[in-house]
Amino acid sequence: MSSPQVGAVAADVTGEMVAVCRVEQVPVEGGVAALVGGRAIAIFRTFDGNVHATSNYDPWSHASVMSRGIVGSRGDVPYVASPMHKQAFDLRSGTCLDDETVRLAVHDVRVVDGVVWVGEEVTAGQGGCV
Ligand code: FES
Repeated sequence: MSSPQVGAVAADVTGEMVAVCRVEQVPVEGGVAALVGGRAIAIFRTFDGNVHATSNYDPWSHASVMSRGIVGSRGDVPYVASPMHKQAFDLRSGTCLDDETVRLAVHDVRVVDGVVWVGEEVTAGQGGCV
């Protein structure tokens, strides 16, 4: 999944998406948590200005902590590392960089006129190592 650049105008924002916050409320290389349709979502902004939305639920520690994770990149892969046990997940696909059978749920996200909109889950979360 590709992520929109901040400031990009998406023509296909639908009523299915929920406006969550302003993009400048999301720290660069950091995240914020939001409740969207009763689900805890983590929204991240990478150093290059891309915005990603995942579940806030860490599949490894089973705690809602991902928004407090460490954002970085390995090569051209933007990731968030769990603040609990440091497993890193590709922010675009949710796949764990250390074990591809483990996934963090990823949500559709758009930035329109400086507002972050979050939509449906595009990849389901699963797994978690023991
Ligand atoms: S979650 Fe990545 S190795 Fe366990």
